[in-house]
Amino acid sequence: MTTSRISGFYNLTIEERRAKLADASHLSPLELAPWTTGGLSAESADHMIENVVGMHSLPVGIGLNFMVNGRDVLVPFVVEEPSVVAGASFMAKLVRAGGGFHATTTDPLMIGQMQLINLVNVEEAKLKIYEHKAELLAIADEIDPILKKFGGGARDLEVRVIESSAIGAFIVIHLIYDVRDAMGANAVNTACEKLAPQIEAITGGKIHLKILSNFADRRIARVRATIPVNELTMAADEFNGEAVRDGIIAAYAFAASDPYRAATHNKGIMNGVDAVVLATGNDWRAIEAGAHAYAARSGKYTSLSTWGKDKDGNLVGTLEMPMAVGIVGGATKVHPAAQAAVKLMGVKTANELAQIIVSVGLAQNMAALRALATEGIQRGHMSLHARQVAIAAGASGKLIEKVAAQMVAEKVVRIDRGGRAGKRVHRKIGNK
Ligand code: MEV
Repeated sequence: MTTSRISGFYNLTIEERRAKLADASHLSPLELAPWTTGGLSAESADHMIENVVGMHSLPVGIGLNFMVNGRDVLVPFVVEEPSVVAGASFMAKLVRAGGGFHATTTDPLMIGQMQLINLVNVEEAKLKIYEHKAELLAIADEIDPILKKFGGGARDLEVRVIESSAIGAFIVIHLIYDVRDAMGANAVNTACEKLAPQIEAITGGKIHLKILSNFADRRIARVRATIPVNELTMAADEFNGEAVRDGIIAAYAFAASDPYRAATHNKGIMNGVDAVVLATGNDWRAIEAGAHAYAARSGKYTSLSTWGKDKDGNLVGTLEMPMAVGIVGGATKVHPAAQAAVKLMGVKTANELAQIIVSVGLAQNMAALRALATEGIQRGHMSLHARQVAIAAGASGKLIEKVAAQMVAEKVVRIDRGGRAGKRVHRKIGNK
């Protein structure tokens, strides 16, 4: 059984962390090797996109302490931003004290859209489509025998009439498709293309666009976490648990009512979500599009998460968002590092992956709100950011930490300062 609690992980060397990770996850060094080598061969990359000239790498860090639905999980993050992995891991530790993350998912239903134009009577066409619904669903159901074998397939057909100023009234047909462990874009797009001629014959209209919707509001992941209020007390009792809890709730109130704040609040959630989506080779643009469309589903853009308290005064967070991720196709299948990510998390279904990702999103959101509601984001963020600035200013090896520490002590973390701090460190250690 995997354990997600590895003490002192932060202080180890990369090599030592790799060994600890293999121990804690029971994966062989070979299974974890894609993260040592970078994973993707130039030849595979050449088959993935066009005009390939090389590879672009990003760090993989491991999120610790996560317990999702009673199971320990080590979470790979692919991200360039400091504080993300540390923030989520620390919040996962606090959530763990309250029983961990409780996550659920709907069936993995995706929506395919078909735009039907050039109709004489939209209402007549709408009813004709409904009259043929069973046969249309039967055709769509046949397009992917593998999905069908695993329990997926066409589930429903919905018809909407849309009024437009540009072309007048037209129809949009939604094909609801259970895509099981796939992200689903290919299956859904193929099914829509297959149905188009039949729908044209039934209605006399013309099917124009036929494409998946990224507003995947039938494929939702939800998570809830309770954090005991005493766990929220911060360093040296500077902020007691109640104050931190109420600060987080007040920060949520801001995001819930103001789209300018909600965008940043949700960006914090996506810091964690995207990092795991990317680690597993999934389409993070699709997840971003779905998340923000969902945040605006009431007509006003708002927070994806909620924060409040329970009857005992503990902090309670929830997050609900579309999560169209797969584990069987595309880059997830081809990219060895994505395969390592799926193995490390021990997920057997796309829904299990979605439950972990939404838990990470909630943890990440809490990390940001906790910092913002107390000491501010810069203190923690800057000490980590300082390392990047030190590297950009030309530091390498052991000097990186020293230059970073110097800049943080001087409370000015800037590249020009990095250069000067570097010179001071050099003088201190006797290099002229
Ligand atoms: C920075 O990447 C993310 C935050 O701005 C999120 C937030 O403000 O909630 C810190």
